[in-house]
Amino acid sequence: MLVTGNDILVPARAGKYGVGSFNTNNMEITQAIIHTAEKLRSPVMVQMSEGAIKYGGQDLANIVKDIAERATVPVALHLDHGSSYASALKAIKMGFTSIMIDASHHPFEENVHETRRVVEAAHAMGISVESELGRLGGIEEHIVVDEKDAFLTDPEEAVRFIEQTGTDYLAIAIGTSHGAYKGKGRPYIDHERIEKIASLTSIPLVAHGSSGVPAEIVQRFRDSGGEIGDAAGIADEDLQRATGHGIAKVNVDTDLRLAMTVGVREVLKASPKEFDPRKIFGPARDVMAQVIEHKLRVLGSVGKA
Ligand code: G3H
Ligand code: 13P
Ligand code: NA
Ligand code: ZN
Repeated sequence: MLVTGNDILVPARAGKYGVGSFNTNNMEITQAIIHTAEKLRSPVMVQMSEGAIKYGGQDLANIVKDIAERATVPVALHLDHGSSYASALKAIKMGFTSIMIDASHHPFEENVHETRRVVEAAHAMGISVESELGRLGGIEEHIVVDEKDAFLTDPEEAVRFIEQTGTDYLAIAIGTSHGAYKGKGRPYIDHERIEKIASLTSIPLVAHGSSGVPAEIVQRFRDSGGEIGDAAGIADEDLQRATGHGIAKVNVDTDLRLAMTVGVREVLKASPKEFDPRKIFGPARDVMAQVIEHKLRVLGSVGKA
């Protein structure tokens, strides 16, 4: 069933597990996300970025909504990194049930102002809102506290931000970053900061940049002719620890991009004569489903729906 983000995330924060929020850009990705969630009895979120809206528009939103409505588990359709009030309103009109306004690059007061406006509009429609405080970006293990504080989310500021905006869930900067290159080896996650922020707040917390960039998928990418540098993602143990301490929404895009591409590459490499799209995107969908299943197990949302 199609539900709001709050319907899914409030129980997750209370139950100390994480909900996967996966980016989609087409039917196969959407099917892999929702059908794997159904198989595992897991609540799930499907998110479209502004780029996804540009690419797939209302057609793609309708595919997500239709599969979500017929699903046997709760599913929310979420706007990822909405950049403006206008963008948020557009997504609300398109039928999204969860909206992110990301004004985190603005100074605190402006971030509050932009977020507040979106919260008022979305709440009037019964839709829940994510906002962000702090700057995403990988941090080096050795950097001094002052430097970390410059861009990682400040716990006291998070409390004021939540009070002043009425945001339903909050994305915090804790050391993760977007993409396939999150740092050398095992990227550093500021667990103490997560626990501090969680101890001062009660709303669900959100981790962006949470792809694991599994070594096995990276190897298959290379083996099938892909080129990729020093790829690194968030360790399963770090995600497990974070979801046990207040992180309720876990954003994943890169892992599905890699999985989809690996699936396509492997078929085309093994079968150069193949040109039936179903024989190309079907296996790609299966690779994505395996990656999603692993993630849902790590997050602990299996059996919660
Ligand atoms: O955080 C960004 C997501 O990975 C979406 O990326 O804007 O290229 O669709 P995109
Ligand atoms: P990844 O690049 O780690 O998949 O993060 C995606 C994300 O945060 C989307 O908002
Ligand atoms: Na988001
Ligand atoms: Zn993000």
